[in-house]
Amino acid sequence: MNTVATTPIDGQKPGTSGLRKKTRVFMQPHFLENFVQSIFDGIGGARGKTFVLGGDGRFFNKRAAQVILRMAAANGATHVIVGRDALLSTPAASHLIRLNKTDGGIIMSASHNPGGEDEDFGVKFNMANGGPAPEYVTNAMFERTRTIQEYHIVEAQNVDLSTVGDTELAGMKITVVDPVADYAALMETLFDFDAIRAMFAGGFRIQFDAMCAITGPYGQEILENRLGAAPGSVVHGTPLPDFGGMHPDPNPTWAHELMDTMNGPDAPDFGAASDGDGDRNMVVGPNIYVSPSDSLAVLAANAHLAKGYAAGLKGVARSMPTSAAVDRVAEKMGLACFETPTGWKFFGNLMDDGRVSLCGEESFGTGSDHVREKDGLWAILMWLNILAKRQMSVAEIMRDHWQSYGRNYYSRHDYEAVDSDIANTMMDDLRSKLDGLVGQTIQGHRVSEADDYAYHDPVDGSVSAQQGIRVLFDGGARFVIRLSGTGTSGATIRLYLESLETDPANFDQDPQDALRWIILAAEDIAGIRARTGKSGPDVTT
Ligand code: G6P
Ligand code: ZN
Repeated sequence: MNTVATTPIDGQKPGTSGLRKKTRVFMQPHFLENFVQSIFDGIGGARGKTFVLGGDGRFFNKRAAQVILRMAAANGATHVIVGRDALLSTPAASHLIRLNKTDGGIIMSASHNPGGEDEDFGVKFNMANGGPAPEYVTNAMFERTRTIQEYHIVEAQNVDLSTVGDTELAGMKITVVDPVADYAALMETLFDFDAIRAMFAGGFRIQFDAMCAITGPYGQEILENRLGAAPGSVVHGTPLPDFGGMHPDPNPTWAHELMDTMNGPDAPDFGAASDGDGDRNMVVGPNIYVSPSDSLAVLAANAHLAKGYAAGLKGVARSMPTSAAVDRVAEKMGLACFETPTGWKFFGNLMDDGRVSLCGEESFGTGSDHVREKDGLWAILMWLNILAKRQMSVAEIMRDHWQSYGRNYYSRHDYEAVDSDIANTMMDDLRSKLDGLVGQTIQGHRVSEADDYAYHDPVDGSVSAQQGIRVLFDGGARFVIRLSGTGTSGATIRLYLESLETDPANFDQDPQDALRWIILAAEDIAGIRARTGKSGPDVTT
């Protein structure tokens, strides 16, 4: 074993979902090693523990895996389960942690951020429940990065991760597993594969865009091999270190090839995409885009059609900026409904405590308590299960849903790579004028409430403050502004817009039109365009 002297490196504070940096930053001497040692120290040491390890295949994934294995061995871990070629989607890693009852897992990914030597890399730790480490744990890791003096690593050749089976490194057992097999088996227990297979056999067509990232092999095995979708239904299905230059974020802006297909003359019946590490999803029908908030509501209303959820849901949860469409379903169905800050980690306690079984976020994340991460393919399979059982098109499902529950028009506007000082000053200015806003009329609508959202976790009592500024209007419309916690350069301002429509005559508007006055009101109050000099958002969802 080798103990290497080191000194603290600035900027190792984990964000919304682990530590994300430019790949070249991670490749600097000691950078990865300092953080991995801080992970082990932050969880009370690795001695005698077992872990899962895998990543989304982006540049540096394989080399980082070798370093992490050598450090796990040097820190006394007894067993690491690794995906073949160091590959695992985030939900598959979460499942393996739970299935094998390990003490946690390390996932190498920067999720939906582009990959490559000049793009992004990331490392995060998931706990024994399969979910991202909560803040008190990531804070302990961060504190460690600020005092670290040494790390432990064994000197060894690279471990062969290309073949499934057991091997060994300096006394630590390593099990290389097929990244897809256990995950696919889990999906078969949750969904009615026979019904979906019959739908494909009847000529139903799907296009699944894996965006040259981790879900390609998962999509091919589950959709094409097991469910019988036509060969070629999975596009961009080979994971590449730079994701083929694609930005693997499944939203209308970045998955524009899929959008073009779905809005084109020969659109298949169903379109879907996932992100770099496989936890996000976007769902599209021919000429109809399903907003993630609506998708969550549809899944909540129809989950009982899937065998894994036939007994009904325990409850549902959504992040605060996500629309209240799911709240309306929960109310009608008599389900408990929780609101949490942005970040999947906040759902973990609710799921572990048995309060919710379905969760979702506007940021293209949907999932359930089958794992403790959001799960892109899971959501796609749930949609397919619903379509197969209801024998309706995506558009028919949406229209039917709005008829029953009303339509929460929704959109998110992102202003990217904003100067951090400008963004922080904007947030400070907003905070200072919140109290004065209530009662004012802006763009013809009265502000009913304005606050800076704080979350009180009902399970462990912890409080998370300053989670986003909310401005609510009479009638239920609102906007929310917060700064992204997942970017790697400058600040991203997110403006979330929502209004409720209950008159069926108005269900067919373009969301940007339905939300126009709120967009103007947000600009009047916050001045994002004025301050950033941008004429409009970089990404619209
Ligand atoms: C990741 C997290 C999500 C979060 C999303 C957006 O995907 O897992 O929980 O909603 O990032 O976070 P951000 O802080 O960038 O808005
Ligand atoms: Zn992701």
